[in-house]
Amino acid sequence: MLTAEKNAILTETGPDRPMGQLFRFFWQPALLSRELPEPDCPPRRVKILDTDMVAIRDSYGRAQLITPTCPHRGANLFFGRVEEGGIRCAYHGWKFDVDGNCLDIPTLPDNGQREKMCKKIKLKTYPTREAGGLVWVYLGPEELMPEMPQFDFLDMPDDQVYVSKKYQFSNWAQACEGALDTAHFSFLHMPLVGGKINFGKDAFVAESSADERRIGWIRNDGAPRFSITKHEAGLVIGGARYADEGDTYWRISQFLMPNHGLAPNAFPGENMHGQCWVPIDDETCWIFNYTWNPDRKLGEDEVERFRNGASIHAATDENYVPLRNITNDFLIDREDQKTRTYTGIKGVSEQDAAIQESMGPIVDRTKEHLNSSDLGVVQFRRYILDAAKALDNEGLLPTAHSHPQNYRLRSGSHVCSDTIHFDDVMVERFGHRLGLAPAAAQDQAKAAEVGAE
Ligand code: FES
Ligand SMILES: [Fe+2]
Repeated sequence: MLTAEKNAILTETGPDRPMGQLFRFFWQPALLSRELPEPDCPPRRVKILDTDMVAIRDSYGRAQLITPTCPHRGANLFFGRVEEGGIRCAYHGWKFDVDGNCLDIPTLPDNGQREKMCKKIKLKTYPTREAGGLVWVYLGPEELMPEMPQFDFLDMPDDQVYVSKKYQFSNWAQACEGALDTAHFSFLHMPLVGGKINFGKDAFVAESSADERRIGWIRNDGAPRFSITKHEAGLVIGGARYADEGDTYWRISQFLMPNHGLAPNAFPGENMHGQCWVPIDDETCWIFNYTWNPDRKLGEDEVERFRNGASIHAATDENYVPLRNITNDFLIDREDQKTRTYTGIKGVSEQDAAIQESMGPIVDRTKEHLNSSDLGVVQFRRYILDAAKALDNEGLLPTAHSHPQNYRLRSGSHVCSDTIHFDDVMVERFGHRLGLAPAAAQDQAKAAEVGAE
């Protein structure tokens, strides 16, 4: 459990709150690149971390997050015209480029006054990057802006990555904890014993876990033993379950500061999945989902399935609100719950959302009764609360802020003898104790050699 005070620190991400300040020191996904499909396309409204913004893509293809408020008299630039290298306010035609420079003030006489006034006017813009099919934004102090985190999926060719987003009616931390708590897979996402198991395209379990052996190991051991390694950018969380004949089935996930998680499903060669839980306000968040395969292109049929809500992706409407959501009880099918699946809810993503949102927008963590299977959740809270406290009390930035290279991690599953220590399991599975992707591990080894010379 947490005290009410700690629960508030964990969940409140407004600009004046300790967690809100911490988040603002990290790049955040703001929207999908495909929401701005072409140069001069319509602007999009964006709100994250209690900050209203407008996203535009100018005539040169540059994506940019700007303040919605026109410096003239405050009209909302969402209604503006994106044209010829900038956005023009729809009220009186003032025009700005993606760097915030004022290009035109047609309400002044064209006798030098326009140019003079333009020089004095600046539109607020936010540092923006585009990578991995996402538009990222930085909302912190510019003098302390970090490098972009070097996620493995950001390095992949476009056809090896698929990203999506969905709206969630809960605080960000609740959703994040749902992913780090890998014990729930033995229940929430399970087909029933003796019930029909559907391995087809409507499978009720994560597609890459959809083989009988794995489902058996997960279902038969609901009390995984956790091993957790803390590092500069987050936590490696290993959950060990009994497999066949004295073997252990490891499901290894990653938490990366301050709001990313990598899923534990993939055996070598399979698709990897990650998520980022971006607060909109304290009671809702965007969940950005990314799937990538380091070894091959994603097939058209796979991408089509993701689009329709397979695996960690959800079937959503045009505003990215899941079709099965809290307002329609996730279309729970009680007959199905009796005979086929643990929840009677279709879709892994929806099963997670149903249970996370069922706790209310901000769960009261003072009333919990945690047990040993909650170790990942406990360590996550400790890690991020310590970071928020250090920043708030002493002005200390977390080490993750200056270690973008430590984000190039992988997560996944492994089966090995039950006598092997977790560090060695990681080396066996990923070639590195923390799961650094091969290229990053080589870079670090080289840097260490140079340092030693
Ligand atoms: S309010 Fe935008 S141009 Fe006047
Ligand atoms: Fe889940």
